[in-house]
Amino acid sequence: MASQQTLILIKPDAAKRRLTGLVIDRLDAAGLTLAGAKMVSVSEKLAKEHYKEHEGKHFYADLVRYIRGEHHAIPDQRVLALVYEGEDAIALARKVAGATNPEKADPSTLRGSFGRVTTTGQIENLLHASDSPASAEREINLWFSPSEIIRPVAK
Ligand code: CDP
Ligand code: MG
Repeated sequence: MASQQTLILIKPDAAKRRLTGLVIDRLDAAGLTLAGAKMVSVSEKLAKEHYKEHEGKHFYADLVRYIRGEHHAIPDQRVLALVYEGEDAIALARKVAGATNPEKADPSTLRGSFGRVTTTGQIENLLHASDSPASAEREINLWFSPSEIIRPVAK
């Protein structure tokens, strides 16, 4: 498996609960390497584009509000966006994150340990991690411009 890059977003529940460092620490401990990092003020347009595969689903409108910090009183819609790289980085980051639904996620994962399903059914699960090479490419290009990412140097 060749080296890959993947997009991670620290979601507002993780930011609100001061778990940003923990998420970064787990990804670091898994052997992933940072290739890009920035705070982003998430416009409605960016949130909708990022989650466009879910358009029309019952949780879509709340998901757009969630990633923009509206459920956690995060000022200015700020989200930490990260690009990680490494061998099999996409699957590895998903493994560190755990299953989408924290109630089904392995308890040793970030989502299993710290995620929750709210009383209204919203899944709060700390981080976004790209789910395939095609998604990773689309999402990295959506959140970062090329000059903001370290690309592996050919040796
Ligand atoms: O984030 P992941 O790729 O694991 O899951 P997804 O199926 O792509 O869904 C995106 C996000 O929507 C999830 O991470 C949840 O925050 C949210 N979601 C939800 O609130 N309720 C659901 N039934 C499914 C997803
Ligand atoms: Mg997804």
